[in-house]
Amino acid sequence: MEYIWARSLETGNAIVDNQHKQLFAELNKLFQAYRSGQEKQGMKKTLDFMLEYTLKHFADEEKLQEECGYPEYLEHKRLHDEFRSLIKALDVKLSQNGPTEDLILEVYTVLHEWLVSHIKTEDLKIVQHIQESSTNKRKRDLTPPRKGTGYEPSSNV
Ligand SMILES: [Fe+2]
Repeated sequence: MEYIWARSLETGNAIVDNQHKQLFAELNKLFQAYRSGQEKQGMKKTLDFMLEYTLKHFADEEKLQEECGYPEYLEHKRLHDEFRSLIKALDVKLSQNGPTEDLILEVYTVLHEWLVSHIKTEDLKIVQHIQESSTNKRKRDLTPPRKGTGYEPSSNV
């Protein structure tokens, strides 16, 4: 299995999009490791990557949401916090019990179910919000000002 990036997943923010692509690349590395029987060794690397990734990427994504006035910001942030805790818990399990089969399965499931579906659903809602906001702004910009505002369009145009 391989994750292939699709343009439909783009948020339009270069930083966030590059980080999402980086995540896909990391997941693909993990699958390659699994295919070649190296997943146990790959587990620590993957979780280290995810710990750092979730700090940096979620902060950048939350900044984007604040900047565009995303109305579901708090709920989205809660999902990010939940995911950070999940990754931390997996990392603790790894240091306590090593890369057991159960842990490997859990890491795959969490990364796939949680992150990929998060990008496809929650993150795309931000994109929609940005698109709708810019369409509404364009509409406002094209609407002639109301009479009496002192900004009426000139009658001899
Ligand atoms: Fe997100």
